[in-house]
Amino acid sequence: MKNTCIVGAQWGDEGKGKITDVLAEQADIVARYSGGNNAGHTIVIDDQTIKLHHIPSGILHKKIKCILGNGMVINLSDLKDEVEGLRKIGVSTDNLYISENAHLIMPYHIMVDGAQEEMRGKNKIGTTKKGIGPAYTDKAARVGIRVIDLEDKQVFKNKLEYHFKEKAQFITSGASVQETFEKYLSLYEYFKERVTDTSLFLYNELSKGKKALFEGAQGALLDLDLGTYPFVTSASTTSGGVGTGLGIPSQYVEKVIGVAKAYTTRVGTGPFPTEDINEVGKILLSMGAEYGTTTGRARRCGYLDLVILKYAKRINGLNAIAITKLDVLTNIKTIKVATAYKHKNKIIKDFPQNQNILAECAPVYQELPGWTQDLSSCITYDELPKNAKKYVEFMENNLDIPVEYVSVGPGRNQTIRK
Ligand code: GDP
Ligand code: IMO
Ligand code: MG
Repeated sequence: MKNTCIVGAQWGDEGKGKITDVLAEQADIVARYSGGNNAGHTIVIDDQTIKLHHIPSGILHKKIKCILGNGMVINLSDLKDEVEGLRKIGVSTDNLYISENAHLIMPYHIMVDGAQEEMRGKNKIGTTKKGIGPAYTDKAARVGIRVIDLEDKQVFKNKLEYHFKEKAQFITSGASVQETFEKYLSLYEYFKERVTDTSLFLYNELSKGKKALFEGAQGALLDLDLGTYPFVTSASTTSGGVGTGLGIPSQYVEKVIGVAKAYTTRVGTGPFPTEDINEVGKILLSMGAEYGTTTGRARRCGYLDLVILKYAKRINGLNAIAITKLDVLTNIKTIKVATAYKHKNKIIKDFPQNQNILAECAPVYQELPGWTQDLSSCITYDELPKNAKKYVEFMENNLDIPVEYVSVGPGRNQTIRK
């Protein structure tokens, strides 16, 4: 296996968790390089559904080393709940390593996130309200609290006092400086043994020939630099984030797999050219159970958009595609796929960067015939109905990248290797 980055090719929730769990079978390490517990990655094994927020989707494989990289923001209190939740269902987290340089999401970040959304009014982003933006803001402002800061009580205390003063108008309830200080020192005690220089750790492992999966969170269009700004998250979600988010040279990424739903969804606000608020959107919402893993919000749904997938290919350097949720399209008589946009009588093929233009774009659709057969028990590519194969190959030909996996259900074994 090549050291492989798994990225979302749309607006998140493409099924990265499921694909990472399936591919982890061949890996030694699974590392998250960006985001925090805004992510919600679902793995379904038999009748058990496991939702991961910080923890990499390799954790269900006993021998895999799982890394929370320096590019992440971590809510230690929620991470403890996540670890305990896994322990309760018999999943060991002994192989979990936390970067000493990762930044902490503190309770005041969550209050600031909520207050900022309120202030944005009708321009709100629709964040997950997990404190992600404010935690990355402190990191960029060079005042963030890193995991390693908990090692030095004085440094930690000074930083806390600074933040309580700086954010006083937002800290309307909850624990005092002293209570927060004590709580986080105790959380640090809980995690201390796992905190390490994960950049060095990963470098040493890869130098020994160990194989890694770099698990992306969110999706290409939520990338802070390259996504649909300002309706994005605050991190580097694309494959370029691996180098800085894990402290390894970018050339260690030998392959990039883009995970794409067979249609498109988005949570939160911002332009979405193929969004369908009518019958088809409602079918996708209900058949695809499109409700957020982290917030429970209904996801906005629409047809597949090849303009955004071509953009995701370009900015991530995608070498392969994993299509998920193909089963959800069963029984849609004619399936539309956007191959371009129309803007003021002009045909646009490249994803526009200007959000006002994107909001005015109308998709140019090509229609493909649907199928009625239930796909959820198909094991080989050949078992798929003719029109489902045509759909997959239409994507493949238009994107000019091989489709390597076709997912036909949430379960591990509902994954076809093409
Ligand atoms: P992630 O954030 O990219 O890991 O994706 P989420 O876990 O937030 O959302 C994907 C949802 O689709 C989860 O509930 C998965 O269990 C489910 N899922 C993944 N692949 C498939 C598939 O091929 N078919 C169906 N029906 N559900 C899938
Ligand atoms: P996974 O990893 C889908 C969206 C939010 C909002 C915007 C900013 O499960 O695919 P934030 O809380 O990050 O400041 O919110 O980004 N968002 C996601 N949408 N999947 C995710 O993660 C997301 N993480 C953040 O809905 O629009
Ligand atoms: Mg998700």
